[in-house]
Amino acid sequence: MSQEGHFLDSAAGQMKSDVKEKKSRSRVGVIATGLLGGALVALYAVAAPFVAPALRKYCLPFVPATTAQVENVLRVLRARSGTLVDIGSGDGRIVIAAAKHGFQASGFELNPWLVWYSRYMAMREGVHHSTSFHISDLWKVSFAQYSNVVIFGVPQMMDQLELKLASELPGTAKVVACRFPFPTWVPEHSAGEGIDTVWVYDAKTFKTHLQHGMSRRTMRGAGPPQ
Ligand SMILES: C[S@@+](CC[C@H](N)C(=O)[O-])C[C@H]1O[C@@H](n2cnc3c(N)ncnc32)[C@H](O)[C@@H]1O
Repeated sequence: MSQEGHFLDSAAGQMKSDVKEKKSRSRVGVIATGLLGGALVALYAVAAPFVAPALRKYCLPFVPATTAQVENVLRVLRARSGTLVDIGSGDGRIVIAAAKHGFQASGFELNPWLVWYSRYMAMREGVHHSTSFHISDLWKVSFAQYSNVVIFGVPQMMDQLELKLASELPGTAKVVACRFPFPTWVPEHSAGEGIDTVWVYDAKTFKTHLQHGMSRRTMRGAGPPQ
């Protein structure tokens, strides 16, 4: 083959390998973009439910109860039995601890990841038959069927929650508030101190107040916040 022929062959070969390299580089680019996009979507899917509570009317973030707090809840309910609900149940620690103490315990939680984690933990701890976890907005469900109610809320929501619980719960119910007490109800007693304090309220007492119109706030209604 002439020198010219060699030159043309090697040029063609070079062009072919250039095209191959470009193709494989663009494939790598597509895969990298796909992976990055997928990672961002996954990150958003995980993070969004944790950020969402901050954007609501009442910002109620995920702050798990301390061990002492959980112990105080169980201590003030030691003479009780039957159904229990933790409103905004987080990672399910109160529900699971209550189930271990004989309650039929439920949790209502906005964040699906926390609900799935709670179900997994209940299974691991062997209490899945006496627990249930619901992905629900606490303002859109009724707690009428529960005789023991636990809430670790924030001060801004407690007056609205007073109205909701007073209108829904049976007179035999007890309500336990963790860390932040209810603003107008008078507690029967409390346990613990500092951030681990819990207060216990008797439904007979706060429902009587509601019926007698002792709370000026009854005029505002107990519907879900906008
Ligand atoms: C302070 S944490 C308490 C968690 C749990 N009760 C505990 O004591 O470990 C409040 C929880 O309420 C949930 N939450 C916030 N807004 C809610 C809503 N509208 N309905 C149901 N759960 C809500 C949050 O995602 C968070 O997990």
